[in-house]
Amino acid sequence: MKLIIINGPNLNLLGKREPEVYGNRTFEDYFTELQFKFKDVQLEYFQSNIEGEIIGKIQEVGFSHDGVILNAAAYTHTSVGIGDAIKAVETPVVEVHISNTHQREDFRHVSYISPVAKGVILGFGLQSYDLAIQSFLD
Ligand code: DQA
Repeated sequence: MKLIIINGPNLNLLGKREPEVYGNRTFEDYFTELQFKFKDVQLEYFQSNIEGEIIGKIQEVGFSHDGVILNAAAYTHTSVGIGDAIKAVETPVVEVHISNTHQREDFRHVSYISPVAKGVILGFGLQSYDLAIQSFLD
């Protein structure tokens, strides 16, 4: 089972960024825990602050990997291009968010990813990623 976690803009600042919303932990630290927990999964990680790089990565893995776990961050609410990339590839994409975006500002209630995602997991903190991995195993 080959899965990739793709994180979008500003998620490289986890641990420092709005800790009251996103927690105190860096993603690199959490990713090590995920790799330890899911030893049988080939787990990769990619982060970019650039929309085109995220689209490029979806295209690159979208015919080879078993699943993509995507937190497109702010691009979730704006990117037709990322939505189209998900539609263009074969690999299923699970959308994740750390926060419950529906409890936040109205602009975060819109997602260009949800209509083309296999499923959506949000609001469980970093555990959202763990649950997304499990969704591919069951
Ligand atoms: C986020 C929610 C988005 O609205 C926000 O722009 C992010 C992070 C989350 O994981 O909760 O950067 O995707």
